[in-house]
Amino acid sequence: MRLRNVKNKEEILNNCNILMKEFIDVKGKWQKEFNNTNPIYIEIGMGKGKFIIENAIRYPDINFVGIEKYDSVLARAIQKVPRDIKNLRFVRLDARNINEVFDKEVDRIYLNFSDPWPKDRHAERRLTSSSFLKMYDRIFKSTREIYQKTDNRNLFEYSIISLTKNGYKLEDICLDLHNSNKENIITSEYEEKFVKNNNTIYYLVAKK
Ligand SMILES: C[S@@+](CC[C@H](N)C(=O)[O-])C[C@H]1O[C@@H](n2cnc3c(N)ncnc32)[C@H](O)[C@@H]1O
Repeated sequence: MRLRNVKNKEEILNNCNILMKEFIDVKGKWQKEFNNTNPIYIEIGMGKGKFIIENAIRYPDINFVGIEKYDSVLARAIQKVPRDIKNLRFVRLDARNINEVFDKEVDRIYLNFSDPWPKDRHAERRLTSSSFLKMYDRIFKSTREIYQKTDNRNLFEYSIISLTKNGYKLEDICLDLHNSNKENIITSEYEEKFVKNNNTIYYLVAKK
């Protein structure tokens, strides 16, 4: 997701007290950052943040960290954060460097509408490729949980194969999330658009 330039994005980022500026202060120390021992759930590629912000509001006993690589997108997310929210942090980062930020402390990863990278030669850039799954192994605390939603069937099929090859078991799978019996779904920005257009949303939960 590349947005048109957000005018005062530097100012928005600089003044945001939930945006982590120094990773060295938090890597391996996220419990200290949140000042509790609650589970830590992260979303990689959070875009404009609707999903993670709504999760943080609904689940105050979970700590949420949203990761996004583009400043302008991040600035939009920051503009939506309610005042005085305690269980939410943002990190500006390309997920290829995720090991700089966490060390055996993440309980769950959300991947919502990640870029599909359709060309075979770019497969390793997909956020469920073996290279990413190996990186995630080093940030997970104990049980590894990956929740994925996508409108892209090829990415979904690729993820199932890659997760299975890397030792994950599929705990849940849904081939049409918004016509299923699942309730209280928190949607992301992309999801809202796709649902309006009647696109099928695929969903899985993988654990190891
Ligand atoms: C298609 S958008 C989906 C945004 C949001 N998750 C949603 O569902 O509305 C993908 C987002 O992931 C971000 N992204 C893609 N690759 C990334 C990476 N390697 N590290 C961090 N963010 C990434 C993009 O900048 C973009 O904002």
